Amino acid sequence: MITPKERIIVALDFRSVREARDMSNRLKGRVGVFKIGMELVYSGGLELAVELVEGGDQVFLDLKLLDIGHTVMQATKAVARLGVSFLTVHAVDEKTMTAAVEGRGDSALKLLGVTVMTNLDIDDLKQQGIAEHSPSQLAIKRAQMAANCGFEGVITSGHEASAIRDTIGADKLIITPGIRPAGADIGDQSRVMTPARALSAGADYLVIGRPITQADDPVAAVEAIAAQIEVGA
Ligand code: C5P
Repeated sequence: MITPKERIIVALDFRSVREARDMSNRLKGRVGVFKIGMELVYSGGLELAVELVEGGDQVFLDLKLLDIGHTVMQATKAVARLGVSFLTVHAVDEKTMTAAVEGRGDSALKLLGVTVMTNLDIDDLKQQGIAEHSPSQLAIKRAQMAANCGFEGVITSGHEASAIRDTIGADKLIITPGIRPAGADIGDQSRVMTPARALSAGADYLVIGRPITQADDPVAAVEAIAAQIEVGA
């Protein structure tokens, strides 16, 4: 049985590896997964990813891959060799995703499809020439495509989690960012959800950054979130 704390993926969004390492040391063994995104990767974060893997932690590399199939395949192969647990790929077409599945091979790397970036609205989609879908309809369509291609799961807003769960079934992972504990400052996120609500909408894991990493006491923040999950706040 997976515990509430194991469902927490902490976004290590820091400018320097030193700060990210300090935070991971404080939270080691208290959360499920550490997420390393592009900002940190371009500042030496891959070394930290390997360090965390070697220390027994689960790592999520949020690289949001999108390129020609051959490049995506080779990049995924390289990421799989690092021993990380999760990698994101844009879920925009089957060619990209089948290339990632090929690159992952028989490694334990789990592939997660990024459905629709939550900062895009219907006008942004029109600008891209996508006229026939609202962001949430498009997210559902792309989640289905990711599942069909053999991805283990998808990244999506908590607001689409329930519809996507109905579409892709119980055995795929749904991972939701935009999480704010009850009563917390929402910062620059607009469509936020509490941890307990996102889990009850069908999420398996919650990506949480600032509510934990910018807290005066990050360990206490994790404990408080886990307690809220337990009581369904
Ligand atoms: O600090 P906060 O909890 O808002 O961090 C959210 C994390 O989730 C960041 O790493 C951000 O890049 C990521 N994310 C997001 N919304 C998406 C996709 C990813 O906030 N749609």
